[in-house]
Amino acid sequence: MTSVLFVCLGNICRSPLAEGVFRHTVEQAGHGGRVLIDSAGIGNWHRGNPPDPRSVEVAALNGIDISNLRARQVERHDFDRFDLILAMDRDNLASLRRMSGPDQTARIRLFLERPARDVPDPYYGGADGFQDVYGLVKSGCLDLLEELRLV
Ligand code: 4NP
Repeated sequence: MTSVLFVCLGNICRSPLAEGVFRHTVEQAGHGGRVLIDSAGIGNWHRGNPPDPRSVEVAALNGIDISNLRARQVERHDFDRFDLILAMDRDNLASLRRMSGPDQTARIRLFLERPARDVPDPYYGGADGFQDVYGLVKSGCLDLLEELRLV
């Protein structure tokens, strides 16, 4: 089974949305249960909290329920447990590289890598920022589905 961990700064805006959208995308493609999908944050500030209401809303508008997800911090074990760890922006990627050890097995890269671009942090902005994040996440998830040969 393939395993994928989405990582952003707080694990309440971007990465839980990516987790929910990718799970939905995989299920729609008929491969539900074939991929282990999770998300986590670089920081620990929101541990145990549900996703930001604006992420919950944009997901719900697209038929996806992420309200039951709860934030957690990236932990050492994640670097051995997941095949692929996807950073939502370059800052998150740099943090992940600093946290990783020499003998880890996970491949770490930017979520949107062709072309390489950040999913911008929408936390301090308005609702339109969350719409933009959704669009980027959706398109990245479709690419990922193809990359993992789950189409
Ligand atoms: P996320 O957004 O990394 O997409 O979950 C953020 C959420 C919270 C904070 C920053 C970014 N914060 O500073 O608390």
